[in-house]
Amino acid sequence: MISQSTIDQVFDASRIEEVIGDFVNLKKSGTNYKGLSPFSDERTASFMVSPTKQIWKDFSTGKGGTAVSFLMEHEHFTYPEAIKYLAKKYNIEFEETEQSNEQKERADERESLYLVSEFANSYFQKILHKTDPGKSIGLSYFKERGFSIETIEKFDLGYSLDEWRVFTDEALKQGYNIEYLEKTGLTIVKDEKRFDRFKGRVMFPIKSMSGRVLGFGGRILTNDKKAAKYLNSPESDIYHKSNVLYGIYHAKQSIAKEDNCYLVEGYTDVIQFHQTGVKNVVSSSGTALTAEQIRLVNRLTKNITVLFDGDAAGMRASIRGIDLILEQGMNVKVCSFPEGEDPDSFARQNTLDELMEYLNDNAKDFIQFKASLLFEETKNDPIKKADTVRDIVNSISKIPDRIKREIYIQECARIMDISEEVLFTTLAQINKKEEDEENKQLKKSHKAFEVIKHKEPVEKVDVQYVLERKIIEILLLYGNRVEDFEDLVLKENEKGELILEPVIHQAKVYEKVFLDLQDDEMEFSNAQFKTLYYSIIDALNQNPDFKLKSFINTVDNQTSNEITSILMDDERYTLDDWQRMSIFPKEKTHSVAQLVSETILSLRCFLIDMKVKEFQQKTLQNKTDVNRNILEEVKDYSGLKMLLSRKLNRVL
Ligand code: CTP
Ligand code: MN
Repeated sequence: MISQSTIDQVFDASRIEEVIGDFVNLKKSGTNYKGLSPFSDERTASFMVSPTKQIWKDFSTGKGGTAVSFLMEHEHFTYPEAIKYLAKKYNIEFEETEQSNEQKERADERESLYLVSEFANSYFQKILHKTDPGKSIGLSYFKERGFSIETIEKFDLGYSLDEWRVFTDEALKQGYNIEYLEKTGLTIVKDEKRFDRFKGRVMFPIKSMSGRVLGFGGRILTNDKKAAKYLNSPESDIYHKSNVLYGIYHAKQSIAKEDNCYLVEGYTDVIQFHQTGVKNVVSSSGTALTAEQIRLVNRLTKNITVLFDGDAAGMRASIRGIDLILEQGMNVKVCSFPEGEDPDSFARQNTLDELMEYLNDNAKDFIQFKASLLFEETKNDPIKKADTVRDIVNSISKIPDRIKREIYIQECARIMDISEEVLFTTLAQINKKEEDEENKQLKKSHKAFEVIKHKEPVEKVDVQYVLERKIIEILLLYGNRVEDFEDLVLKENEKGELILEPVIHQAKVYEKVFLDLQDDEMEFSNAQFKTLYYSIIDALNQNPDFKLKSFINTVDNQTSNEITSILMDDERYTLDDWQRMSIFPKEKTHSVAQLVSETILSLRCFLIDMKVKEFQQKTLQNKTDVNRNILEEVKDYSGLKMLLSRKLNRVL
């Protein structure tokens, strides 16, 4: 354990711009620094560092955080390693304290689950490399599969002894709590008895995007038909099967660089590909692909190539999951291997060049592939062919981009030998059906909202809440629009007075909002809005043709509900309220630019009012010697408020 005083000193001393500046070429941009994202292959800078807030944000990948989290992300440090690094950089004495059992218990639950998983990870590796059974059974198994020592070490592969509870005993001896051993599934607790879940298996740790161990897959070494070939960690607070992709940690840089991701089925496929030299590969671990997993990849690239084992049944099953990928606006290719081969065996038998050549020659666009497959199957069966048409058009309907959809319709018409008209009509039918569904959903959520509305009549308008909500609404509706903004820039004239000078500049609405809020160091007070705000900004930044509908598709249920209600319930705050609070104009807004400006200005005015009130409170409570300073500040704020009000009036 690092001592708290070391951690405190490290946080006090580190300057985020200096820490990140060692890895990224940063240029000053207003109050911030800007640079090219170190996490993707971008050409225009979307990586921002704020010295005032001591945070960074990478808009190309959506990552962000503190200096420590940057080091964890970029250098793949663990938390203690990052602290150690900073201590060294800033010449701070590094103090470690032995963690007591009591402290171990107190550490918060998730952290405890991580810790016990990390422990298990190094334990299984130690067994593999350092013990006789580990070497003769585990290590020789991996070698037999063609894995080199470097590969085995890179993927932290391990071995769990073929004994009932040696691992559990060792973990308990080291002070790990049985509660967490059970919750991570490493130990199975039955009445008074305890067993090692992974007894006698070779171990594949499953890591998060940032390299933390979340769970394990353990492969049996015998050919016992009754026992499962792979045993996996159960779902826990840190391991959600549907949210992780095996190999993502080792693949992420390469996925971004190559701008493509290979998706395979198994642990060994990933490892063998890596060893052969294809590193942009992840595995869904044999389960059907989920939207969350696709989202992980979608942050790194828009292109995915799904690799099928060389058996038809597996391929049929996987094809169904692919519509999910299309829905997220990704380009999907598919590639199958020769009969009897899987990516693992194929990569093992071929050189990197041969493998790449095979992939390049055999990867086909998914829609075209599906169309020709279906055409082959049904060309002599007119009834089946009708179903096929619906099937393929259904896939096409998932593609968010309209132009792409139309191109695919034309392609498929050609491949399947059907008129484009038939396909377009089918597409229109499917779209109509979906729209009806959506409307129904919207109506439902609207009703649900109204019930709440009548139950709890809103007495007082929470101005900050309303304005923050308005900003979210603006971003959702107009985020991508380019508008002319009239900015009044504060200038000092010859007399030393502050004056406002109008400057027109063109910007996208979301850029304007983001920069304005950041300039003022304004944070959303409502936690939900704050999260939503950043995810909308991310989405807008990543996707020049941001569509509300497809964005809503990519967020979780709760968020999409929130969005729907934001967009639906502006009647909640009637114009009367706005006028009474004198925060909005009498007339309806004339332009988006105006709406944006006045909303931000209103929020600024409101926050200044709050500040002034806060200062006034302090003046009442505090001793006289600080009063002078506070009064000065209040004066400054009042002056600013006056200027802002003038600005606001001008906008109005
Ligand atoms: N899998 C699983 N449980 C099983 C079988 C499979 O979790 N009982 C998952 C594993 O993640 C496995 C993937 O499904 O890697 C693919 O299964 P399969 O093709 O059978 O395994 P391979 O990866 O080919 O494993 P091996 O080559 O070791 O036989
Ligand atoms: Mn295999």
